[in-house]
Amino acid sequence: MEPIAAALSETIAFIQERVPTAPRVGIVLGTGLHALAGLIDVTHRFPYAELPHFPKSATAFHQGALLFGTLSGVPVVAMQGRFHYYDGFSMAQLTFPVRVLGGLGIRQLLLSNAAGGMNPAFRKGDLVIADDHINLLPDNPLRGLGDAFGNRFTDMSAPYNARLQELLSEAIAAQGLPVHKGVYVSVMGPNLETRAEYRWLRSMGADTVGMSTVPEVIVANQIGIECAAVSVITDECDPDNLKPVNIAEIIEVAGQADQKLSKVFAEVVGKLA
Ligand code: HPA
Repeated sequence: MEPIAAALSETIAFIQERVPTAPRVGIVLGTGLHALAGLIDVTHRFPYAELPHFPKSATAFHQGALLFGTLSGVPVVAMQGRFHYYDGFSMAQLTFPVRVLGGLGIRQLLLSNAAGGMNPAFRKGDLVIADDHINLLPDNPLRGLGDAFGNRFTDMSAPYNARLQELLSEAIAAQGLPVHKGVYVSVMGPNLETRAEYRWLRSMGADTVGMSTVPEVIVANQIGIECAAVSVITDECDPDNLKPVNIAEIIEVAGQADQKLSKVFAEVVGKLA
């Protein structure tokens, strides 16, 4: 058995010994997005540090815990805080939790992230549903694992599930918010982009830019989990009128949209019952 497979079995067994109900839906809460945790009827909470083989959360603004409970009546597991490549985690480490969630039996994975909005129709605080992505991260979570966990040549013709996108659109519209879809491009970071880089990313067909999500989506697709991702636009990336932006502002804007996003996820999860 490859080392990662042994670690995976141990972590899954550790959780299953303590949590009697298998989660149906997994949720990843991105930077500055944690209000959803308050809507979950939490039965079990594991700080990442207490979970065998879990990477340890390095960033101060992530509380770093796995939450189990029910949301809108559906058994869920939520990652409060995710692992980023820019923090130095390997692709295998930062996608390990997705493999754990898959092993626990989730069928859908809803991801959130804070992202820059390059499409000029997007405003700060808007929610944008990913309908596709471009991977510019310098490594791939399927590299070097063979086919031990599924087909390494994972099909990516539709990485974001159409029905989940539809449910998200309905839930966003139901709140009276603009419904946007777009292509998310993942970059390594952690610095933000130059004007020339935003221009280039936009010209290649991307609408939003961020530093996460794509590795998790690749792994989820490999193991047959339906995915959806929503970006909160935290800064408007117009290369001809670029304002300085800092991480504190990004977290603040994400925080302002947090309640909206949480309601949207709660509504969608309720429809998955
Ligand atoms: N670029 C990359 N990542 C981001 C941005 C951005 O402008 N905003 C929030 N995350």
